[in-house]
Amino acid sequence: MTAQAAGFDAIVLGAGAAGLMAAATAGQGGARVVVVDHAQHAGRKILISGGGRCNFTNMDAGAGQFISANPHFAKSALARFTPADFVALVQRHRIPWHEKAAGQLFCDRSARDIVDMLLRECASGQVTLRLSHRIIDVARDAAGQYRVETDHGVFLAPSLIVATGGLSIPRLGATGIAHDLARRFGLRVVAPAPALVPLVFGAQDREWMEPLAGLSATVGITCQAGAGRQARQVTFRDGMVFTHRGLSGPVILQASSYWQPGQPVEIDLLPGVDAAARLLEIKRDRPRAGGVAMLSMLLPQRLAQFFAAAHLPEGQLAGMPDAVLANVARVLSAWRLNPHGTEGYVKAEVTRGGVDTDCLSSRDMEARDVPGLFMVGEAVDVTGWLGGYNFQWAWASGYAAGQAV
Ligand code: FDA
Repeated sequence: MTAQAAGFDAIVLGAGAAGLMAAATAGQGGARVVVVDHAQHAGRKILISGGGRCNFTNMDAGAGQFISANPHFAKSALARFTPADFVALVQRHRIPWHEKAAGQLFCDRSARDIVDMLLRECASGQVTLRLSHRIIDVARDAAGQYRVETDHGVFLAPSLIVATGGLSIPRLGATGIAHDLARRFGLRVVAPAPALVPLVFGAQDREWMEPLAGLSATVGITCQAGAGRQARQVTFRDGMVFTHRGLSGPVILQASSYWQPGQPVEIDLLPGVDAAARLLEIKRDRPRAGGVAMLSMLLPQRLAQFFAAAHLPEGQLAGMPDAVLANVARVLSAWRLNPHGTEGYVKAEVTRGGVDTDCLSSRDMEARDVPGLFMVGEAVDVTGWLGGYNFQWAWASGYAAGQAV
């Protein structure tokens, strides 16, 4: 007979960022909590995050930096557990940290500090941690009790917090169980897709991109966010890198979260520069220079050679009509490329889409029609920009659910 472990108020599935935060919050609030995870270790994604230093929050985090079918959904939870609240926790545990880029906070030492902190918080809430437990079945009985069957026994509780994340990085234990459970309990799921992921190109584009591999430049990309009356444009300005398969770098990862198959991406290679005016100025100042020399005043050498070969005649600038320069300026400011796809979940930092927020309470993440069922973290259709936003969502949504059970 399978061992049954009753006597818990809440079962948390997933010992990642959101699950540990939810468990610690609930446990410290007096609930008897068990966390169940199939991985051998807790918080594996935290450990590899931010290049091993974990970009654990962003001081500017607000609903505007998240992608969701309901752009307002994240507001309530983000307001009740803020970046300052997380920083206060980090300070209480005497973890040294620093601000890298504007608002982005990282550990000085290692992401391990954050995992250890969360485990200490769980311990102070008397949370039971059950790792290396394979989940076999999850059900809700007629009395409203959740029953989680694992290969090490069964857990019973009136509340279930699903914090098993998204599909990105399967080698770290990611599975689609959150989406499967949502559907099983009648919740809709917004189609998931890899996000914060490099873009790949077809064979034809790869041919001319190959010699540019390794080259990087600061560029701007404007993305269309939302639809209908909620539509707005978002512009990112950051580094782009040519790879052997396409494009990567922070600005591309940001754009990938908005990219839809079949759409082009439009890259401003000279962000903040009036390209047409600048090229005419160079022509006036250095009439005897050639096209490559002119463009290499604005772009990395290899890119300058590439664009000069493709768009400028041989010879001195003095002999080039202004209209030719105006045309290359247009190309440089809005360089249209057609990605073939993305590097997929193997490389994606997060999963876009997930449990439809219309099915959840924005206050505490409980399913509207299934009492006691909570969905938190990356499993939910709330996807943050690069820069610490995704962890802030994990902390805030985990805290909201943890307070409610
Ligand atoms: P998370 O994925 O952390 O945890 C889910 C847990 O559920 C895991 O422990 C997993 O083992 C478990 N699980 C899954 N399926 C299961 C099953 N079937 N049975 C049992 N257990 C199961 N974000 C950020 O803000 N700053 C950063 O610096 C980075 N850096 C970064 C780098 C890399 C390489 C990646 C891949 C991701 C990031 N992120 C990030 C994103 C961030 O890691 C992510 O948003 C959070 O970890 C999401 O937290 P969750 O708790 O929702 O899922």
